[in-house]
Amino acid sequence: QGSEAVAAAGNAEALDALRIEYLGRKGRLTGILRRLGELGADERPRVGAEANRVKDALSTLLDERAAAYAVAADTGPRVDLSLPGRARWTGQVHPVTLVIDEICEIFRDLGFSRVAGPEMETQTYNFSKLNIPLDHPAADMHDSFYLTDEVLLRTHTSPVQARVMEQFAPPIRVVVPGTVYRRDPFDASHAPAFEQVEGLAVDEGITFADFKATISAFVRRFFGNDAKTRFRPSYFPFTEPSAEVDVSCQICGGRGCSACKHTGWMEIMGAGMVHPNVFEAAGYDPERYTGYAFGMGPGRIAMQRYGIPDIRLLYESDMRFLGQF
Ligand code: PHE
Repeated sequence: QGSEAVAAAGNAEALDALRIEYLGRKGRLTGILRRLGELGADERPRVGAEANRVKDALSTLLDERAAAYAVAADTGPRVDLSLPGRARWTGQVHPVTLVIDEICEIFRDLGFSRVAGPEMETQTYNFSKLNIPLDHPAADMHDSFYLTDEVLLRTHTSPVQARVMEQFAPPIRVVVPGTVYRRDPFDASHAPAFEQVEGLAVDEGITFADFKATISAFVRRFFGNDAKTRFRPSYFPFTEPSAEVDVSCQICGGRGCSACKHTGWMEIMGAGMVHPNVFEAAGYDPERYTGYAFGMGPGRIAMQRYGIPDIRLLYESDMRFLGQF
């Protein structure tokens, strides 16, 4: 009877129940063995031996079945409860976005509003209204992504200068972050699409000294009080005079390293006083208003700040890279 029950037991729990029913402290066989004393001396050895034989046989049977179930259970999925849990995947702010937001926050404290403009532009806004003749190399088909004969992906954020001036009267103080497009080979230092932050300040009586003071204040806040600023003469059709602004290299502190090509400086923006022709095209009186404009590259600033050696890392969306910032 016991062996049939063992054969019918479908799992390890059923076996345990049977072991208790037959062999437990209050089990059936245990009861028989315990009551041997009630039997006569002639019957006692025979019944005792038989009971012990059944008990051993049942016990062996139970052990064999239990072992078989243990092996079967062991082939299932192994769960190591001591392993640490997997962290939930979270998004990260892109390093270039971090730099753009920080730039805009500093200029917000200086009185500048953050605005945006279209990435698809007409030749008129991208070039003509900025005093760039259409036969200028920058307007060349080979340097720009043209969508039609007259419409292209903006090559810089400067067209938003014209759009803002047409929409608002002075005084103007804006920063304009956004993506710009140029037909450059995609290599370690060039990308066909990259970010710029344009700046524009227009009012009565703004001078080059205001420009230098504002940019120097920005550099100290963004790069730290020890950072030095250098203004170099340059040329842009839409500013006069024009300048390029350098900051002492953040990697070597100005002593010279491979990151700054051993010059001790890194260029952070092109800038200058707004050209009278740009005011004229926007409907502003160039006799009454003056102002300055600048355009900086937050991608290059992020590369310098975080020691990123290849611009392509910024556009590959690899979370192992992006998760570090
Ligand atoms: N638009 C220029 C560029 O893309 C930068 C610039 C902006 C220069 C504003 C002067 C004033 O390089």
